[in-house]
Amino acid sequence: MKDSDLQALTTDTNNISLTNSAELYRSAKPGLPLLVIDSPLCNAVLSPYGAQLLEFKSKGKAPLLWLSPKAVFEQGVPIRGGIPLCAPWFGSHPTDSHKPNHGFVRNNDWIVKSIEEFSSGEVKLDFLFDTQDTEAETYDYCFQIKLSMTLGDSVKLALTVVNLGDDEMPFSWAFHSYFAINDLDATRVTGLTGEEYLDQTKALTPCTQVNDVAFTTEVDRVYQDIGEEQSIRCDREGITIASIKGSSCPSAIVWNPYSELAAKMKDIGPNGHLQFVCVERGAIFDDIWCIKSMSSMTAELELQ
Ligand code: BG6
Repeated sequence: MKDSDLQALTTDTNNISLTNSAELYRSAKPGLPLLVIDSPLCNAVLSPYGAQLLEFKSKGKAPLLWLSPKAVFEQGVPIRGGIPLCAPWFGSHPTDSHKPNHGFVRNNDWIVKSIEEFSSGEVKLDFLFDTQDTEAETYDYCFQIKLSMTLGDSVKLALTVVNLGDDEMPFSWAFHSYFAINDLDATRVTGLTGEEYLDQTKALTPCTQVNDVAFTTEVDRVYQDIGEEQSIRCDREGITIASIKGSSCPSAIVWNPYSELAAKMKDIGPNGHLQFVCVERGAIFDDIWCIKSMSSMTAELELQ
């Protein structure tokens, strides 16, 4: 999407301005265009590339999301942090290992269809991704994704996927949320106790989540057909850092690379794992969506 189109969309808004990652994060030029929100209810930064919320802080609260200080702002590279959307597949492509991990919508420009400011102070942005408008047309299926973000006291995400092709379309996806933490040893994810999971660090070995999820080594777990709500807590301080509520998001993925893997990942780096945990919600593995021709499916997620 052209900067001039984005400029036109933000001209009449009170609380939203257009900037660039090279300016805001001193990233390499030319960088990527970014939208900055300073509304009565929240501060946020968004990238139309990937339709990705990068930063979010409701007024009077701590930042909800983690954006890597080493994030790369460059076409073709996913931005590490915030809420990337993984789709239309999760992890590696089922048959072609050359295709990008977690699909291609986080690595592509989206169109910002509209921006609305409400008297409540909430700001709503509508993003559109259409396979017909991108280089992604080498994909076997033709689809549109509409992603609405309503930012106020919380982050409300609404995802609608429309299958524009003649055949039923498999569609795996996840909101890959990076939550900011500052005490990994004391961080726990609640709401998954007793659930079965597949351990991605052990070739998808099936396991049972006995207690709340703790982080003492690499954690990479896929939970399927789970309940709607989870939370991230800091046990030492006895506080809830984040609440996660999904509707039609049957899967959860909990990920922290821990020290060894984080140090190897250029856009995380040594000790970067101490700053975030990912609790993702979506529809993957056996929970995959199968969308009939010319039909759509919808999901919602609220984070606060
Ligand atoms: C998680 C996966 O969702 O994303 C992990 O479960 C993966 O296996 C992680 O390592 C990060 O993936 P990427 O492609 O953003 O480096």
